[in-house]
Amino acid sequence: MKFLVLSTSLSPSSRSRILARSAFDRLPDGHESTWIDLQTEGLPLCDGGPAADERVDRLRRTVAGSDGVLISFGIYNYLAPAATKNVVEWAGRAAFEGKVVAFAAVGGGPGSLPCVASLTTPMLLDFGAVVCPNFVYTTGGSFVDDALVDSDVQGRLDDFISAWTTLTQRVRAGDHHA
Ligand SMILES: Cc1cc2nc3c(=O)[nH]c(=O)nc-3n(C[C@H](O)[C@H](O)[C@H](O)COP(=O)(O)O)c2cc1C
Repeated sequence: MKFLVLSTSLSPSSRSRILARSAFDRLPDGHESTWIDLQTEGLPLCDGGPAADERVDRLRRTVAGSDGVLISFGIYNYLAPAATKNVVEWAGRAAFEGKVVAFAAVGGGPGSLPCVASLTTPMLLDFGAVVCPNFVYTTGGSFVDDALVDSDVQGRLDDFISAWTTLTQRVRAGDHHA
């Protein structure tokens, strides 16, 4: 299987990047794993076509070539930030179709958890992706400096990675009861 972890925060001190990296480090051996960090990768704003460059091509190719895609983000104003939406706009339906998509998010407080729905809706209703029913949400208190130190979140991340990678393998193998 090919797993892609996509960190979409543009903040140099992003906590959702630490969460995404912790997820990436937990991916099981024996698969191909790719890491994309928008903070270093950069991406033009989607204008429907003309602004597409080699970074957009790489994003599309990598998403299209993946079996499972994990998107991490920090919450801005009760939604996924514009940078995260921009990825979805550029990659588009064709790249996500049939993929198992999972989400990991960090908010400033506990109340913004339902915002993940802003991304699951197009995935499910238009893109034909399979959305992993598990996701990880946490807040800044789980981190110290560059480390995820919260043992509860570490345990949830273990379960989440196991659920996402197992679901991806079953769906991509054509198991319609997955
Ligand atoms: C513009 C802005 C809006 C935010 N809005 C929310 C919000 O609605 N809900 C929330 O829980 N946290 C909110 N936060 C806090 C961020 O989710 C938090 O700082 C998170 O760590 C950001 O992700 P990052 O560190 O990966 O960039 C906001 C932060 C910023 C800068």
